[in-house]
Amino acid sequence: MCGIIGYIGDKNPKGILLDGLKRLEYRGYDSAGIAVLHDKQVEVFRCQGRIEALEKRLSNADFKGSLGIGHTRWATHGAPTERNAHPHQVGAITLVHNGIIENYLEHRERLQAMGRKILSETDSEIVAHLFDLEVSQGKTLLQAIAAVLPRLKGSYAFVVLSKNEEDTIIGVRNGAPLLVGLGDKENFVASDVQAILHRTKQIIYLKDHQIAVCHRGNVEIKDLYGKDTPFEVKTINWSADQMEKAGYRHFMLKEIHEQPQALAQTIETNIDHQSGLVSIPELSSLRSWLKDLDQIQIVACGTARHAGLVGRYYLERFARISVKVDFASEFRYRDPLLSTKSLVVLISQSGETADTLAALREAKTKGAKTLAICNVRESTLARDADLVLYTNAGPEIGVASTKAFTTQLAMLYMLAVEAGQANGNIDETYAKELTADLLKLPFLAERTLLLEKQIEKMAGDHLDCSFFFYMGRDVQYPIALEGALKLKEISYAHAEGYAAGELKHGPIALIDRTAAVLIIAPKDTEPTSAPEGMAEHSKTLFEKTMSNLQEVKSRGGKILAFGSENDPSLAQHADCLIQLPAASWALNPVLMAIPLQLMAYYTALFRGTDVDKPRNLAKSVTVE
Ligand code: AGP
Repeated sequence: MCGIIGYIGDKNPKGILLDGLKRLEYRGYDSAGIAVLHDKQVEVFRCQGRIEALEKRLSNADFKGSLGIGHTRWATHGAPTERNAHPHQVGAITLVHNGIIENYLEHRERLQAMGRKILSETDSEIVAHLFDLEVSQGKTLLQAIAAVLPRLKGSYAFVVLSKNEEDTIIGVRNGAPLLVGLGDKENFVASDVQAILHRTKQIIYLKDHQIAVCHRGNVEIKDLYGKDTPFEVKTINWSADQMEKAGYRHFMLKEIHEQPQALAQTIETNIDHQSGLVSIPELSSLRSWLKDLDQIQIVACGTARHAGLVGRYYLERFARISVKVDFASEFRYRDPLLSTKSLVVLISQSGETADTLAALREAKTKGAKTLAICNVRESTLARDADLVLYTNAGPEIGVASTKAFTTQLAMLYMLAVEAGQANGNIDETYAKELTADLLKLPFLAERTLLLEKQIEKMAGDHLDCSFFFYMGRDVQYPIALEGALKLKEISYAHAEGYAAGELKHGPIALIDRTAAVLIIAPKDTEPTSAPEGMAEHSKTLFEKTMSNLQEVKSRGGKILAFGSENDPSLAQHADCLIQLPAASWALNPVLMAIPLQLMAYYTALFRGTDVDKPRNLAKSVTVE
């Protein structure tokens, strides 16, 4: 969760560290700090709150030296106070940490029994003591780290410096991301590529238990025994501009607007234009195996799980394969029933979510094939899954996931069409029509974005509502969940997403004049070669949702409806209506997600919350 940066080179590190931390702030923003080493002295500055507060405090500080480390924290052990902020300095050692050391209490007790004074409540300070103990006995920093790591349980990425070694910064990881950036007579260590991409594109992604020993002139990658270990230098193709707001007020708004392009980039590489069919290159080795598949288990967290819930509808309709969807945090502990004929699909924007990675390990142990849908190249999930399908959404910085979600839906659509073709459930004509439909999606998303002003007004007119109830049926049910999650995470408004059919089973008790009910009720179009009954199915769903609308209306709730422009019927009943371009059953969830993202965005904006850095949240949850 926390953001980490380290610098060693010939420049003053203050600006480099602060700038890197600002670019990492989406990872955590409870407290921040930097440490700089010069002439065997380490200066540490830490403060509670955002990087801005740290920057203010440092405005007159004049650092000497040319190496240092920085950290922006999302608190796990210990309150977000200055005392618990990183870097932690103990004797010769100064370190920053991301992760959780599970057995820190036993080490803490032992250190206290030895007379060591512990100043913070953190697990990280304990590790600084352990390193310092080894260094005080004459070990080099590398030897000290190698001696301590086998005694730590849990996940970590550490960046460490020692007063005694003015040409060394060491980074090490186990279960939390860490990478090295190679520069000209300077090198960087960071938790994410965003922090340093404007300085170098040459990146070494560390693997678990690898130690990066960074000097000004070179970098060595070692194993836990201090032996050289092979590594690869990758050139990153994300541009530094993609990490900027490009004139938008918030990253979230920029990323909402990037969706047509992100969708086009995600779809394009998986279409065979000659045949007019979806053809995912990474699946070619799996095609015959897909035929005999007996179940698909989708595992993810938060928004990514909502994408998985939509994916279940796609896969069950297009491929007629039984699909289960689970929270990664539940799946990993429930001894799931899997076999060699099971496919476990893990969805994650970051590819670093701790529970999703644990679920991946569980699936592999049980012999299932694993397929990741992931946005970040070289992330742990992308590296460790048997197969990976990349959503080409580009970097997503806003804590609220937007373009990652819609591109995940596009990828699941393509996976379902491929699987349906592989097992003969959909014929070529139908597959071609589904592909042609999909190719229109970026354009439809662009048209949907033109509704922004109307949605801004809708948000402004309903700020006083006591709570927001989202409902949808069938493939729109997960979109109701996602709409409610978006609203609550950035505006802090109370919101619930429900399957519309569940209304009468409890939640209707909450409906009164102060409630806003957001109803997702598009009129689906269908490809002409769709199996018989599909159009009827959509019609039935629509009618059922209309009955739910009446139930809400008769209890005084305000109806905010999201329908299709080919449907005049909603207008008579809704207090406020947003009409999206007409689209198919499978594409409507993607389009419907967009106005709900905008609704959340403008509600948050009017409420004055911090859209890109909502309270208590962090972009990627790398601890359990
Ligand atoms: C989305 O708006 C959330 N911030 C969150 O639910 C997120 O989707 C979840 O933590 C999963 O992240 P991942 O996709 O990086 O694994």
